[in-house]
Amino acid sequence: MAQRNPYYRYLDSKQAYYTSQHKPIFGGWLMACVFCRVVILRLVMLNVECSLTGVEIFLPFLLSLYEATSDNGSSSQQSNTAVSKTVRSSAMRYALLVGVFTVSAFASVSTSTPRSTYICPVTSYGSKLVPVSQFLGLFLDTGIIIGLSTVAQDGFESSRPKLLLGRLAFISAGALSIQAGLFILKNPEHMIWSFHLDSRIISDLLFATVFGSSFLASLVYLMSELRPSIPITVATCVSIYTYHFSTHTTEFWPSPSRSTVVLSSIAFLSMAGIVRLWREASRSQRSMSLNGTCSRFLVILFVFMSVLFLAKKSSLILHPSKLSKHPIDYLMSNAQHTSDQWRKQAATSQSLEQAVYEYQSRYGIPPPPNFDKWYEYATARGSLIIDDFEQINSDLLPFWAIEPAKIREMTAHMLERTWTDAGGLRIANGTSQLTPHVVPTHRWSLEGTSSIIKKFAQWLPDMDIAMNINDECRVAVPWRAMEDLKDRGTVARRQLNESKHFQPFSTNAHQLWPNTYMQAEPPYSPQTISEYFAEASIASSFTKYGVIGCPPKSPSLRTSWWNKGLFCADCTSPHALGPFLSNWTLSGSLCHQPDLKNLHGFHLSPSSFKPTTSLFPIFSQSKMPGFSDIVFPSPWNYVDKVTFDSSKSMAFSEKEKSVFWRGGTSEGYAAADNWEGMQRQRFVHLANYAQGSTKLNLLLPNNAQGTGYSYRSIPLSSVLSATNIDVSFVGGPVRCYDKECAAQAREFYFNTSTVDFQEHWKYKFLFDFDGAGFSGRFLPFLESSSLVFRAASFRQWFEERLTAWKDYVPVDTRLHDFWSLLAYFGGLGKNGEYAHEKEAERIAGQGREWAAKVLRKEDMEIYMFRLLLEWGRIVDDRRNELGFVLPPK
Ligand SMILES: *[C@@H]1O[C@H](CO)[C@@H](O)[C@H](O)[C@H]1NC(C)=O
Ligand SMILES: *[C@@H]1O[C@H](CO)[C@@H](O)[C@H](O)[C@H]1NC(C)=O
Ligand SMILES: *[C@@H]1O[C@H](CO)[C@@H](O)[C@H](O)[C@H]1NC(C)=O
Ligand SMILES: *[C@@H]1O[C@H](CO)[C@@H](O)[C@H](O)[C@H]1NC(C)=O
Ligand SMILES: *[C@@H]1O[C@H](CO)[C@@H](O)[C@H](O)[C@H]1NC(C)=O
Repeated sequence: MAQRNPYYRYLDSKQAYYTSQHKPIFGGWLMACVFCRVVILRLVMLNVECSLTGVEIFLPFLLSLYEATSDNGSSSQQSNTAVSKTVRSSAMRYALLVGVFTVSAFASVSTSTPRSTYICPVTSYGSKLVPVSQFLGLFLDTGIIIGLSTVAQDGFESSRPKLLLGRLAFISAGALSIQAGLFILKNPEHMIWSFHLDSRIISDLLFATVFGSSFLASLVYLMSELRPSIPITVATCVSIYTYHFSTHTTEFWPSPSRSTVVLSSIAFLSMAGIVRLWREASRSQRSMSLNGTCSRFLVILFVFMSVLFLAKKSSLILHPSKLSKHPIDYLMSNAQHTSDQWRKQAATSQSLEQAVYEYQSRYGIPPPPNFDKWYEYATARGSLIIDDFEQINSDLLPFWAIEPAKIREMTAHMLERTWTDAGGLRIANGTSQLTPHVVPTHRWSLEGTSSIIKKFAQWLPDMDIAMNINDECRVAVPWRAMEDLKDRGTVARRQLNESKHFQPFSTNAHQLWPNTYMQAEPPYSPQTISEYFAEASIASSFTKYGVIGCPPKSPSLRTSWWNKGLFCADCTSPHALGPFLSNWTLSGSLCHQPDLKNLHGFHLSPSSFKPTTSLFPIFSQSKMPGFSDIVFPSPWNYVDKVTFDSSKSMAFSEKEKSVFWRGGTSEGYAAADNWEGMQRQRFVHLANYAQGSTKLNLLLPNNAQGTGYSYRSIPLSSVLSATNIDVSFVGGPVRCYDKECAAQAREFYFNTSTVDFQEHWKYKFLFDFDGAGFSGRFLPFLESSSLVFRAASFRQWFEERLTAWKDYVPVDTRLHDFWSLLAYFGGLGKNGEYAHEKEAERIAGQGREWAAKVLRKEDMEIYMFRLLLEWGRIVDDRRNELGFVLPPK
């Protein structure tokens, strides 16, 4: 028995019992364990969204248990039973304390770590294995550490520990390479990106390597002196401390973690007990070999850390979060105010003179020629918005930095090459027509746009425009280049201001435009690619395009959020109040949200994506913030592809209290299991696989006093019994490789009965998500007097006209706010206690009314008219003298 037990050394180091002839066999076992450990580690990492949080916290406990039992084993050989008894009882006391520490630390971490909504498939066999593998890994870790410490007993002067460490490193590397090799052999299509590491991953890897290996080396070194549980316990404690110390605990979210503070306090108290035991042991120089200086240092460190922790969390402990107002009430009243303010400044002008003056004072230049015609057009159609077209201004400003001839050349470049997925419109002689080489499947879209333009084409100068026929946006310009373009654009615009005699549009403008793409035969074959555009479909677009427009030092440029299963609190807090979205504009920015990389089809794997990093003039129906396409009103809504049929309308109170959603898996092209992160899939999964027993932390009115709100833990079933959920995919899986289609068909229910679009109006709560691009349903939803929940990452032409929380309810892309939103509007329990029906009805009504005023087809025409007047000036060679001036009185 004692021969198996190398821990004899701790009890009496003078009588080392360790015999060296067992070492070679033992070394072989150790290497095998390390090999298995690495294999398991990689399995877990591949399905990290299915892993349990904090399993490794149990390591100190397993180690101390092992030590306690082996102490017992060896002490039984001692003749002095009294000594043996004290040793045994102190070892058991020690193991018990470490146990308390471990359990409370684990509880504090797992209750305070919110999960993301990234899907861990319930039907996949592999993902169920992940927690099992994690525990297997934990036992292997225990074995490896015990083994290492055995070897380390030789002392670091001898070459054995170093040699063994070196071998283990080789074994781990070998295990990884074998797995990677097998993976590439099986999936050759992943070869290219597997070897392409971007700088963020390299810096993460370097950090992990340096940190990991120095940690391991110090650990082995320490274990030559100490029992292994000591450094491991200290390391665990420090990392849990850092975790709790640095997590973002606002008043509202992730949760007002009082229970976390209590649990972590228990953990730290038991740690105090552990340190005390070590100190006692070091005094008596028995049983545990922590020397005096070391333990004194630990005590001081412990006291210091505790004081710091209490200081930081004191407010949470002393003032339990009681709020006088619900965040949503606050956001709604704020939204009303913001909207009133915006509306006031958007329509200050009452006459053409005032409108010209207002334009001049906003942009520092005179309005474009024919501005009077536009003004007449807009006022005749009762436009409420005359002055605020900030979207047009910001979309077009950088193009002032580019020579008109160059802009025309770039337009021609796209229109000549059908490969670039651009369709052309020629505006000439007061009308608008399609260029000959528009792909038949997308003709309807260009014809729709053309029918908008025809309404006012007589006032437009001759020009050709290139329209994006894909749903996905196209132009991602790096930050520095964009800043430069904007600066030069501002300067170029100022030159216009210096002109004294303003002219109307050139009449010979059509001569300036090339005719190559107007010929019946295209100048280039459809296969001719453009060197300025890339074929980037079905690949992650986030790093290469999505965030290149972000300012340096943006979190999305510096970090990569690899743990898909973890909710990123720091990514939402800038634009959130509690779990709720508070700043719609900011929530679209990708720069502070590195985790979005895995949470949207467009970032994960766009179906048809041909982006450019140069500023090409391409008109798109929507764009992700950070992209530089020119946004125009979508013909989808203009030509009534989907509409709200008012004969099917219903009063809000008559509607059924249900969340209703139907749709396809069309957000992105599913490859390599990435459908698990797409927003539509996450939504359907979240809504349908909800476990009624899950505890939600909801903010509810205080019962007793009736004033203020506080958090309470409520089972999810309570939300489900108040609001019905009818959410499913329709048809069958689309846009996926065979393997992913099959996986989705297993995981989701696809409702094959057809639903008339007008069915939607029967339900109170309508959720609206992006597809491959913007959602075409949003406008009809808004008209329907149902409450619209909007989770759009693609932004359209009307964003500044609408106000989140006044006209619709904004939803975070992560969907972590889903249940809290339902609880607020739908209430809890059968009777819908705490429901806010009035508020829901008010937002639904306001959205409907406001849409009927500013999102009409007339408003789309007015927007497009103004956009093309501005664009007509930018592409005119004489743009520095073009402007509208009022006729002298
Ligand atoms: C410790 O050793 C004694 C005597 O050998 C044995 O009776 C006892 O069961 C052991 N305790 C544990 C926890 O292994
Ligand atoms: C443009 O000119 C007007 C009048 O000449 C002047 O008031 C305004 O400040 C100028 N704006 C810029 C941006 O130079
Ligand atoms: C516009 O009219 C002129 C003269 O009538 C003609 O030469 C030109 O081809 C027309 N352009 C288009 C695009 O129809
Ligand atoms: C929302 O974010 C935008 C962009 O960062 C910022 O300009 C604006 O002031 C914010 N609005 C509020 C109400 O905080
Ligand atoms: C499928 O959709 C129809 C129409 O909305 C609905 O009546 C039916 O209950 C759905 N089926 C299931 C199993 O949810």
